[in-house]
Amino acid sequence: MKVSIVGTGYVGLVTGACLAETGHDVVCVDVDQRKVDMINEARAPIHEAGLPDLLKRNAGRRLTATTDLAAAVAATDLTFIAVGTPAGEGRIDLTFVERAAAEIGATLRNKPGYHTVIVKSTVVPGTTVGVVRRALESASGKAAGEGFGLGMNPEFLTEGTAVADFSHPDRLVLGGVDARTHEILGRLYAGFDEAVPRIFTNPTTAEMIKYASNAVLATMISFSNEIARLCTAVGGVDAIEVMRGVHQAAYFTMRRDGERLTAPIASFLEPGCGFGGSCLPKDVTALIGQGRDMGLGLGLLQSVLDINREQPGEVMRLIGRHFASLQDVPVTVLGLAFKPDTDDVRESPAFPIIRALKTQGARVSAYDPVARPTDHADMAGVTLAESLAAAVEGAEIVVLVTRWTEFSQLSGLLGKLGRRPLVVDGRRVLDPDAFALYEGIGR
Ligand SMILES: NC(=O)c1ccc[n+]([C@@H]2O[C@H](COP(=O)([O-])OP(=O)(O)OC[C@H]3O[C@@H](n4cnc5c(N)ncnc54)[C@H](O)[C@@H]3O)[C@@H](O)[C@H]2O)c1
Repeated sequence: MKVSIVGTGYVGLVTGACLAETGHDVVCVDVDQRKVDMINEARAPIHEAGLPDLLKRNAGRRLTATTDLAAAVAATDLTFIAVGTPAGEGRIDLTFVERAAAEIGATLRNKPGYHTVIVKSTVVPGTTVGVVRRALESASGKAAGEGFGLGMNPEFLTEGTAVADFSHPDRLVLGGVDARTHEILGRLYAGFDEAVPRIFTNPTTAEMIKYASNAVLATMISFSNEIARLCTAVGGVDAIEVMRGVHQAAYFTMRRDGERLTAPIASFLEPGCGFGGSCLPKDVTALIGQGRDMGLGLGLLQSVLDINREQPGEVMRLIGRHFASLQDVPVTVLGLAFKPDTDDVRESPAFPIIRALKTQGARVSAYDPVARPTDHADMAGVTLAESLAAAVEGAEIVVLVTRWTEFSQLSGLLGKLGRRPLVVDGRRVLDPDAFALYEGIGR
C-alpha cells in the first residue's frame, strides 16, 4: 500500500519505518526540515533502539521524507495523522490535528479516487468523527464514508522499545466509520502476526481504548506512590516489599511451562518519583478536561495527577532528613529522560526536582547517558556532566531519577572515587546496603 504519514515524531517515524519494513511504500511528512533531511540521509533524528537499522534498510527506497504534505497525500492511498496533541490549559490542544486534517482535505479536493485518512495521534473520544471529520469534509468538499475513508488507529508503543512494540503489537485497535475503512486497515496490517487480536470498532471507541489504557497505568503508579507515602509514615515497612507481596497474587502472575512469572503490569505497582513523558500526564489531563467540558468531575483521575505532581516533593523530603539547608550544596541528578532508553525529556520528573533543588540554593549538576536538553528552561545554571564519574565526583547528594542500567555501577564508582554522598533512590533500583547514606522512596 502507498502510505503517507503527517507528523514524523516518535510515533510517526517509527510507524513509517516499520510499515516500510513490512513492504509498504511510505512517505513521511514533517514541517521540520532537519528531521526530513536526516531521514532521507538514513539518520535517526531520535534515540530509539532498532530505528537506525530500519532507516538504513529502507530510507531512499521504501521510505522517503518531505515537507510537501500535498505531494505526499496526492501520491499515496492512505494518510496517517500522527502530529502532536499537547495538553494546553487543562485540556487537549487539537490545533495540530485540525490543521493537518484541513491540509489533507484541501489535497483530497482535487485527488481522484478513494483515499483513506487514519488518525494515529492520541485524541479525546469524539475527535475523529468531530473535529477531524469536519476539517476534512469542509476542505475537500467530500463526505467521510463516501468520498474518502476515515478511521482511528491508536498507537500503544513505548519509547525505548518503540520499534519492537510496533512490529509485535499486543493488539491492533482499528476504528473506522465504515466497513471499507475497516477492510483497508485490515489489509494495511495483513503482514503482522495473525495471532495479534484485531479489534474492529468505531473511531470513538478506538480513541477511548487508548485513553483508558493509559489512565489505568497512571492510576496504578499514583496508587503505589500513595501507599508508599503511608509506608514511610508508618515506619518499619518498605513499600517495595509490600508491592512484591502484592505481585504474587494470582492476577499479577502468569504461568509458563510450570514457571511463575510476574505479569509486566506489576511494574506499574512500584513506588518512584512519579510518571512523566509525553503521554501519561497529558492524556490524563486531556480526559479530565473532556469530563469537565461535559459537566463530569473525574475525581479519581484528578487525584492521580495531584499525587504525581507532589511526588518530587517526596525526594526533597528524603533529602531534608539529612540536610537542614541546601545552600551551595553540590547535588547531582542522574537521569533527565523520563524513562530509560530514550532521549525524550518531556514532562520528566527530573525537572521539578531540579527546580526544587535550585530554589533551595543547591549547586545542581546532571547526567544522562543520552538526553542532553541544554535548551530546556530548567537546565539554566545546571552543569551537564559528560560521564557518570564526572557527575558524581564532587556531589554531596546524588538523586537517581531515571532507571538507566548504567546507574547500577553507582556503588562501585563511588567506592573507587572514595566518595560517600547521600544517595536518594527515586526508582528503588539500587541496593540500600551498598551505600553509606541511602534513602529510597517508600522506605
Ligand atoms: N511518544 C509516544 O510514546 C506516543 C505513544 C503513543 C501515542 N502517542 C501520540 O502520538 C502523537 C504524536 O506523538 P509524538 O511523541 O510522536 O510527537 P512528536 O512531537 O515527537 O512528533 C510530532 C511531529 O509532528 C510534526 N508536525 C506538527 N504539525 C505538523 C503538520 N501540520 N504537518 C507535518 N508535521 C507536523 C512536528 O514537527 C513533530 O515532528 C501524540 O498524539 C501522542 O500522544 C505518542
